[in-house]
Amino acid sequence: MRAGFYQFKPLFGKVDRNLQKVISVLRDVDADLIVLPELAFTGYTFLNRREVMQHAEDPARSTTVDSLAALCREKNFYLVTGFAEKSKDKCFNSSLLIGPGGLMHLYRKLHLFNTEKNCFDEGDIELQVNSIGDVRIGMMICFDWVFAEVSRSLALQGADIICHPSNLVLSYCQQSMLTRSLENRVFSITANRTGLEKRPQGELKFTGRSQIVAPDGDLLFRAASQRETLHIMEIDPRRAHDKSITALNDVLGDRRPEFYSILTQREEV
Ligand code: ACM
Repeated sequence: MRAGFYQFKPLFGKVDRNLQKVISVLRDVDADLIVLPELAFTGYTFLNRREVMQHAEDPARSTTVDSLAALCREKNFYLVTGFAEKSKDKCFNSSLLIGPGGLMHLYRKLHLFNTEKNCFDEGDIELQVNSIGDVRIGMMICFDWVFAEVSRSLALQGADIICHPSNLVLSYCQQSMLTRSLENRVFSITANRTGLEKRPQGELKFTGRSQIVAPDGDLLFRAASQRETLHIMEIDPRRAHDKSITALNDVLGDRRPEFYSILTQREEV
């Protein structure tokens, strides 16, 4: 399978311009699966909910989604992309799995980062894995990486590849994702963005360094921090079926969930 990411710098609020840029780059690519950054078409640093609502789209009536679906059809590939989603009076920091047949699945970010809490509603949909051919795809978004429960839940559902649209600003994630991959024996593709976003409330610099990690925690490829990068490589998703870490240890089979019941309790300890 040929899988990878496109790291670039979306321009804030320029949805159509960002879409045209993505389409013009991906139109020449030979791939099966491509991951794009979080909020790839709107940009990231929203002032407030009202501003999100001005730029967000309902995926069922979205020219962005329709154009991406047409691209997937034309190229016979699958895309995972960050997307500012409007759903009635709510808005979510979402990611979409789109294929030649159109929109396949939508995930709403469960763990909002910092001032995202002022702009988006919290995700309200169970984590889910989807099949593209024989390959099982899980999605999580950026700051979800801190919560090991997310990647674990996707692995337990059989994800071979965790697709991870991101707009990272802290320095920890890229290295931590080696562990997320290793502890679950899954591939991960983190698609981050580059550049500086200057808004009235301040500025944010994104850390780039998008990467592809193998189920043994091996870093297969990492982009530079501030260079636009398209990277597609051959991977064998079947490697993620082997959950052994020694001859006698299996990272999923050896779990003792009866001793972790606290993980599913809401109350503080
Ligand atoms: C982040 O979740 N965008 C840091």
